[in-house]
Amino acid sequence: MAINDKNMKNTHQGLQSIQNDWNSIAESYDKFVTPTGNWALPIEALHHAGLKPGMNFLDVASGSGALSLPAARQGARVLAIDISPVMIEHLQKRAAEEGLSDLEVRLMDGHALELEDNTFDISGSQFGVMLFSDLKQGLREMVRVTKPGGRVLMVAYGPPLEVEFLGIFIQAMKSVIPGFIGLPSDPPPLPFQAADPDVLRKRMEEVGLKDVQIHKSSEKLEFNSGIEMWNWVVHSNPIPAMLVRDLTDEQASEIQHILDQQIHLIAGDKLPAIISASVHIGIGIK
Ligand SMILES: C[S@@+](CC[C@H](N)C(=O)[O-])C[C@H]1O[C@@H](n2cnc3c(N)ncnc32)[C@H](O)[C@@H]1O
Repeated sequence: MAINDKNMKNTHQGLQSIQNDWNSIAESYDKFVTPTGNWALPIEALHHAGLKPGMNFLDVASGSGALSLPAARQGARVLAIDISPVMIEHLQKRAAEEGLSDLEVRLMDGHALELEDNTFDISGSQFGVMLFSDLKQGLREMVRVTKPGGRVLMVAYGPPLEVEFLGIFIQAMKSVIPGFIGLPSDPPPLPFQAADPDVLRKRMEEVGLKDVQIHKSSEKLEFNSGIEMWNWVVHSNPIPAMLVRDLTDEQASEIQHILDQQIHLIAGDKLPAIISASVHIGIGIK
């Protein structure tokens, strides 16, 4: 599957490199992140959005299905789009294994949806549009393809300081890598551009959504060991994947050892450790 060249040229610079970055971790994302993505969060998000069986639901930047699969299991007719063909293939495989015949996948750039106006009852994105290089354009496209009176759903991480896995991982890296100063804060990395609930609300209102509600929630991750946590974090996004790319084997195993100590400290005598991340669920009406 290849995204067509015309779209690549006409939309955003760097689209090809974004596709390559996500393709390179998609196999491991499907293995380590999608299944531990805690189905409770997408189920809560779909509940807030008012998903009902038979509704047309669009999942933008679907990955390998953490939001699409629960929507299809609830009887929605789902279209999942993503820029990574590898992600899409894994989602297709998961849907087939579960016999979810009302789940269609398509390769597409979320900044320029190749879809008709006013088509979906709900357009949603979990940890997807929040990290787009042009978040507003991603939201505008979601609004365009949503039916009048339909809903747009955004699931986004809260502030980095409230995202426990990030703090633990960065701290472990700082202890092992001389001179490593952590992630930039001004501006923050793209995945945190709408971490402030007021910013998320503003972005949703700026594209014309009405009655925007922001619900505070959390993602609860369960880890039994440092290596489990390492695998989750490193394959969750191209940024950590890049941060660890040039580490020596010795540095990587030192970091995994520190993560292991933290996991056992948090868990006490009862594994798994529960690591929590602040999440905002934004819902607006077209
Ligand atoms: C953190 S993952 C989230 C995946 C899924 N929604 C989930 O909750 O697990 C981000 C996804 O955004 C996709 N993505 C990044 N840029 C995109 C774009 N411009 N258009 C469509 N998908 C994009 C990536 O390929 C990746 O699957």
